Amino acid sequence: MSTVARAVSARGELVLSTRADGVLELRVNGVFVMDTEQTTSERALARVALERSARPFRVLVGGLGLGYTTAELLADPRVEHVDVVEIEQAVVDWLADGTVPHGPDLLADARLSVHVTDVLAHLGAAARASYDVVLLDVDNGPDQLVHLSNRALYDRGGLALARRALAPGGMLVVWSAHPAHTLERELRTTIGQVRIVRVPVQLSHRDEEYWVYAATR
Ligand SMILES: C[S@@+](CC[C@H](N)C(=O)[O-])C[C@H]1O[C@@H](n2cnc3c(N)ncnc32)[C@H](O)[C@@H]1O
Repeated sequence: MSTVARAVSARGELVLSTRADGVLELRVNGVFVMDTEQTTSERALARVALERSARPFRVLVGGLGLGYTTAELLADPRVEHVDVVEIEQAVVDWLADGTVPHGPDLLADARLSVHVTDVLAHLGAAARASYDVVLLDVDNGPDQLVHLSNRALYDRGGLALARRALAPGGMLVVWSAHPAHTLERELRTTIGQVRIVRVPVQLSHRDEEYWVYAATR
């Protein structure tokens, strides 16, 4: 594993590394966040919303990461505009300058706006009913936070902000590496009907599954 880029922010250290096979891996404070080898579930997060939403016109993505969720959204011609909110300037820079090779093409899409801020703050400031779909993939799940401050995103107050930003019939979809029973309950209470999608993935030749929670307002 060799380091491709490194940055330090108010939240700690970000490292982008490459393995011998060319796979890129992103870590925050030493914690694995994602790689470019296994991106099925990042793309599934977008697909679940695209397949179940009649009008996925205006979309908010929490967490740019290495851009797979956003790329899947932009591949759908129904999507008119995507706001991506990423808390780390360095992550955006690494996609913009080609450190992440597919980054420049992705960011060049005229339907995309990138905002460097906390997605919770963005939701708090968003106009009522401004999105048809809100996708959240900022942690390894609501019970496995990358930043402790993200806890507020999944509690009733954070989910109420997401609900307020959603148009009637809109969907909030949340990625998790584990079953998230508390989140499921809070989504039902705060947003509405919840669908749970299990996404099979292969991790180091092991069969695992990730979870996507889709709540319809
Ligand atoms: C797992 S990655 C997202 C992966 C993305 N779905 C993809 O397809 O590549 C999580 C990203 O969320 C960002 N993040 C973490 N907390 C955040 C927050 N509160 N607001 C916005 N972005 C956040 C991290 O810096 C990281 O880039």
